[in-house]
Amino acid sequence: VVQKRSGHVVELSLPNIIAHRGAPRYVAENTIASLKKAHELGANWVEFDVMLSKDGVPVIMHDSGLNRTTNGKGKLRDYTYAELARLDAGDGQKIPTFEEWLKTAKQLEMGINVEIKESASNADEVVDKIHKLLSENWSQDLPKPLISSATFACVEAYRRLDGDAHIAYIVDWLPFTWKSKLASIEACAIVMNYKKLTQKKVERLHRAGYKVLAFTVNDATEYSRLINMGVDGCFTDDLKTVRGPDVAPLN
Ligand code: G3P
Ligand code: MG
Repeated sequence: VVQKRSGHVVELSLPNIIAHRGAPRYVAENTIASLKKAHELGANWVEFDVMLSKDGVPVIMHDSGLNRTTNGKGKLRDYTYAELARLDAGDGQKIPTFEEWLKTAKQLEMGINVEIKESASNADEVVDKIHKLLSENWSQDLPKPLISSATFACVEAYRRLDGDAHIAYIVDWLPFTWKSKLASIEACAIVMNYKKLTQKKVERLHRAGYKVLAFTVNDATEYSRLINMGVDGCFTDDLKTVRGPDVAPLN
């Protein structure tokens, strides 16, 4: 077990509100137009999901299947990027590459939370590619990206590659093994389903030195309740409904 570096927690500064998959209540999720909409609605940080095409190109997509968010059929991993790029991902948008997403987020000067949606068997490949693209396309002047995954092997692989990265583990509920798991990846945060969070759990996690982020909060009252409970940040699909002091005012 690697010693947790206290610096990680101190350094990680996130807003209370993180745009989830762009602004999916207003523009098709995980598309460049949705990212731009999130920025227009005042978000400073954005979360998005990354997976690999058949030919190993990291793309922005939440589901392993194509049918919910595109006009394609079957599994994303059965298509090359050239084939995926011909699909309609909603609102006339296409499935973005991770590189395209990074370039746009950088132009918009937004903080990014890269959620890795890959299985353990692809952990090394996806993590190598994400790390390389970040080193080529991200700016030192912008906040350090937060790397997260619900696949523990992916966050483990990322930590092996990068001793300085900000890393979070995503869980639905808090596993018995949370202390050793978070310590072993030198996590700075845990990302948890807001329905499973209690004040006690938030306090225990804070005492252990971790920030607590909650997904996916689309109700203003629920958001206030969580922030009052001490939750450090909430992911939202609805930036017009869930707003806080660190989100720029709507015109
Ligand atoms: O990272 C927070 C949240 O995005 C995790 O759930 O399914 O929306 O990717 P999901
Ligand atoms: Mg996600």
